[in-house]
Amino acid sequence: MAKLTKTNPFDPSVLMVPHTYNRCLREEAPVYHCQKTGIYFVSTYDLVMEVAKNEKVYSSKFSTMMKGDQARDEELLAIQSQGFPRIDTMLTQDPPEQRRYRSLCQKPFSVSSVKKLRPYLKFLANDLIDVFIDEGKCNWMDDFCVPFAVNMIAKILGVPLKDMDLFKVWSDANVYQFAAGQTRAELLRSAQLVVDSQHYFAKKIEDRQKQATDDVLSDIVNSGIDGEEPMNVAECISVIAQLLVAGNETTTAVFAEGMYLLIKNPDQLAMVQEDVTLIPNMVEEMLRFCTPSAQMWRIVKTDTELGGTAIPAGATVMVKWISANRDEAFYPDGDRFDVKRENSKKHLAFGQGVHHCLGAPLARQELEVGWQVVLERMTQFKTSTELKFHPSMLLHAPVGIEIEFDKI
Ligand code: HEM
Repeated sequence: MAKLTKTNPFDPSVLMVPHTYNRCLREEAPVYHCQKTGIYFVSTYDLVMEVAKNEKVYSSKFSTMMKGDQARDEELLAIQSQGFPRIDTMLTQDPPEQRRYRSLCQKPFSVSSVKKLRPYLKFLANDLIDVFIDEGKCNWMDDFCVPFAVNMIAKILGVPLKDMDLFKVWSDANVYQFAAGQTRAELLRSAQLVVDSQHYFAKKIEDRQKQATDDVLSDIVNSGIDGEEPMNVAECISVIAQLLVAGNETTTAVFAEGMYLLIKNPDQLAMVQEDVTLIPNMVEEMLRFCTPSAQMWRIVKTDTELGGTAIPAGATVMVKWISANRDEAFYPDGDRFDVKRENSKKHLAFGQGVHHCLGAPLARQELEVGWQVVLERMTQFKTSTELKFHPSMLLHAPVGIEIEFDKI
């Protein structure tokens, strides 16, 4: 316990490389009540699953708790007041409201809907690779990972691809509110960018309320279920912000860290290039290993008990998907990247229970098609980049990676 009590779980160095600390949590205190923060950290596979499946006790309405000091910062509040009121929709809402919002935008993200995107994903991956393939090197993050994911979500939402650079900036701004060690100037800048994005999307929403178009944004804006009213502009903006962030940051991170894993494990790369039917399982193993949506909050609604530890009503819990996915009891030799691992697909990278990732079929499709195209056209990857991660409280995402490769 000494190591645990001495370590600040939100120290940027722990957030950037969390695996040693997480192992210590699993071995010494699977439900750890941190005295410094008051938070309960849950780190083993079984207990993380137990929390995720019990939304009646573990609430996702944590958005007010995140405000903290920011709720008293007048300059910040003045910027935010220029935007739309914050509405809790899917990720930060509990059933039955969460279910209502989710069903309003579920259809375009179903397995059968996203299957139709395969040809476009293939075209997009090839188009991006065409630009750098003859050079034998590229900035993998900027030239492939980011534009692939951002382009896809822009296409799905039906917003102009020329605005793609803005989406990335806005998506990053949404994420910065969860980052550790942000200066106040950075926070204010992010708040302004979030407000800018809200006005951009409000205009697109109003356009579609007047005249429906054939895209997901139109579906989201105009759909009502069981005779209910469609969502209002503020609700739509909240849903779109979630889709934008979830659709950008996570898939991008798996492509970036996934490339690093293939470089560091040439035997695994050779196996997949020899037998491309391994790609779907390689993708699941990358999701398990990288777990970009690393941890998430829950608020305890009633006095409860977890793994023998009493947790009082009102307590804050942090669910550590990234730790569950390395739990040796479930994943022997869990720090090893193994494209043939039999239970990779049982990972918790997409969460579990009522909040299980809405975009999981889309993310899987993007990763499978993207890697298929990459591994058909490129091999012998190398890098001199040492992979570094952003110190975020919720996401575990690499900063960047440059690579060299041979053209096939
Ligand atoms: C590798 C890619 C992705 C990963 C690892 C990931 C991970 C997750 C996780 C762990 C959750 C559950 C959060 C919780 O229980 O509190 C979640 C929820 C969610 N994800 Fe994803 N996600 C990915 C891609 C996407 C994509 C592409 C989209 C859509 C464009 C998306 C949309 C959502 C939404 C809307 C929710 C909230 C669902 C709800 O609360 O009902 N995600 N995701």
